[in-house]
Amino acid sequence: MALLIQNGRVVTPERTFAADVLVRDGKIAAVGPGLPADGCETYDAAGCLVFPGFIDAHTHLDMDNGVTATADNFATGTLAAVCGGTTTVVDFATQDKGGTLARALEAWHKKADGKSSCDYAFHMAITDWNPAVAEEVGEMVKAGVTSFKLYLAYDNLRVTDAELYEILKRVGQAHGIIGTHCENGDLVNEKVAELRAAGKLGPRYHAPSRPDYVEAEAVARYCYIAGAAGVPVHIVHLSTRAGLEEARRARARGQKVYLETCPQYLVLDGSRYDAPGFEGAKYVCSPPLRSLDDQAALWEAIRNGEIDSISTDHCSYNLTGQKDLGRDDFSKIPNGLPGIEHRPAAVYTAGVAAGRMTENQMAALLSEHTARLFGMYPRKGAISVGGDADIVVWDPAARWTISAETQHQNCDYTPYEGMAARGRAKAVFLRGELAAENGEPVKEGLGTFVARGVSEYY
Ligand code: URP
Ligand code: ZN
Ligand code: ZN
Ligand code: ZN
Repeated sequence: MALLIQNGRVVTPERTFAADVLVRDGKIAAVGPGLPADGCETYDAAGCLVFPGFIDAHTHLDMDNGVTATADNFATGTLAAVCGGTTTVVDFATQDKGGTLARALEAWHKKADGKSSCDYAFHMAITDWNPAVAEEVGEMVKAGVTSFKLYLAYDNLRVTDAELYEILKRVGQAHGIIGTHCENGDLVNEKVAELRAAGKLGPRYHAPSRPDYVEAEAVARYCYIAGAAGVPVHIVHLSTRAGLEEARRARARGQKVYLETCPQYLVLDGSRYDAPGFEGAKYVCSPPLRSLDDQAALWEAIRNGEIDSISTDHCSYNLTGQKDLGRDDFSKIPNGLPGIEHRPAAVYTAGVAAGRMTENQMAALLSEHTARLFGMYPRKGAISVGGDADIVVWDPAARWTISAETQHQNCDYTPYEGMAARGRAKAVFLRGELAAENGEPVKEGLGTFVARGVSEYY
């Protein structure tokens, strides 16, 4: 049966307007005021904003960091995602050292297929570059994996500058987007060694092991090398003013530079590492939480339209049994934060309700621009006829408190514990089916793989 979502206000990057949304066979069939309800099931969205389903383009589900596997797998992570309003995630399939990209893609399909409660796509993280892998790039793009990830930090994952240049050139020929983790890995190793030698081993020393210039240097280097290769730049989890300024310099030189930041860099700051005892470990992620000045710079960049996407970098580890592997040494604390469930509420609360960004910018940064950047638009990322009916009915008047007690993330904490949230996903439709309501799942396991086209931002 057709579904008519009535009386809401549809949000696009350009405007907000009163309209009903007609859904048929999982697709959006019409958008407009006063659509006839005959023969339709109806959903009353009065008083609500109607957003295109949110896309999280940066998740690490069912990922083994070499010591321990993330607390969330595809079953738990995508269920949490859809409860919060996220209808598509783009996760990082990661090449094993000595392995092929085809093997990594197969492994990630096995992790996700038949287990996911929201739609999913993959980026391919290249960790072991060689001529045979170069031959696989075109195959990945044909398989709908049109974006790639490179690390400039983490000894088990990172590529050299020479490899970076070669990969950029090869992936560029296939019009793949390359998202890069920008931290100078050698410098991080030196800083960690200095702190350890000085007996500075608690979680609070995570941040000084990765100062802002560690990010800025890598952003600048990546931009110059991408410029030499003649391909667009995509920087994931930008966290600092200094890094932003390097990206601005590259843009001023005429380069295409796409920037992602994450809610943790907008909402939390480095003072969290001063929490008593081992509590600071909850906030250990890379790049680390930053200063209030960095936070202000990122909000200003959002206001100016300089940021293209807000995704989570969801990479959850339990405090007990996982984070505490680093109880005696901060450098052994598994890096990453949970956030897949709470991103829309955190961004709406700290951004839209606080007057730092508009609901239209939220639709752009959490949905449409991300879909365009990653070759999913207009199937995803828009409330437009012919697209997938991934729809979030958002109640801007809802008031609730973020807490691990009520979350669906499979983690023993949330970094947003106690946050007084404004607004909530009242109903979440995935290809026309009600998947979650008021933060609780309604129908699980609806997720399917999204084979993507090449980016339109090339
Ligand atoms: O601390 C983080 N962000 N862990 C996940 C891997 C990454 O760097 O993106
Ligand atoms: Zn990263
Ligand atoms: Zn990440
Ligand atoms: Zn529940």
